[in-house]
Amino acid sequence: MPSSNLILQVHQIGTKIMFFHGIFSFFVVFGLLLSYDSMILFMDSNNKRMLILNGPNLNLLGKREPGIYGNDSMESYFATLQNSFPDVSLEYYQSNVEGELINKLHEVGFTYDGVVLNAGAYTHTSVAIHDAIKAISTPVVEVHISNVYQRETYRHTSLITGACVGVIGGFGMDSYRLAIEALLQL
Ligand code: DQA
Repeated sequence: MPSSNLILQVHQIGTKIMFFHGIFSFFVVFGLLLSYDSMILFMDSNNKRMLILNGPNLNLLGKREPGIYGNDSMESYFATLQNSFPDVSLEYYQSNVEGELINKLHEVGFTYDGVVLNAGAYTHTSVAIHDAIKAISTPVVEVHISNVYQRETYRHTSLITGACVGVIGGFGMDSYRLAIEALLQL
């Protein structure tokens, strides 16, 4: 019968349209999910900003007691460090002045994703730096180039550890890299 033939044909065309529509929708949804995922990944790795903050006498790295602190200046090591983390925007600041370290912590402490702090000898003396770390929301990792526990007893006490998320020390300049790794895991 011609009319039932027509109905059959319309039905078959309808089924084909639905089939291709299904495939098309699948790829559209899949594509959207894929681009959303890559956008999240992109934002995740590209938006990190971190500060390496060095305290007193660390401007002399490379010259200062090389048997303990090695031969690298912070400036030359910083280039290596940045190369190890191409997706992290790293900055470096050093001061011999306690108040300037505190000012820097205040400056970055509500916007940056992490601070790697080698407070040098202020580690063992500064309640003010402890309070500054407590006052900010950016996580701070305490770092030491040397293993302070193998050295003079006055270096065994840190007044800042309690305010930091963790401590890394004794691995030479690599302590800075390990601290960034740790901050990226938070
Ligand atoms: C140091 C250890 C401190 O005791 C010392 O005062 C420093 C450097 C380190 O990196 O090993 O200046 O923080």
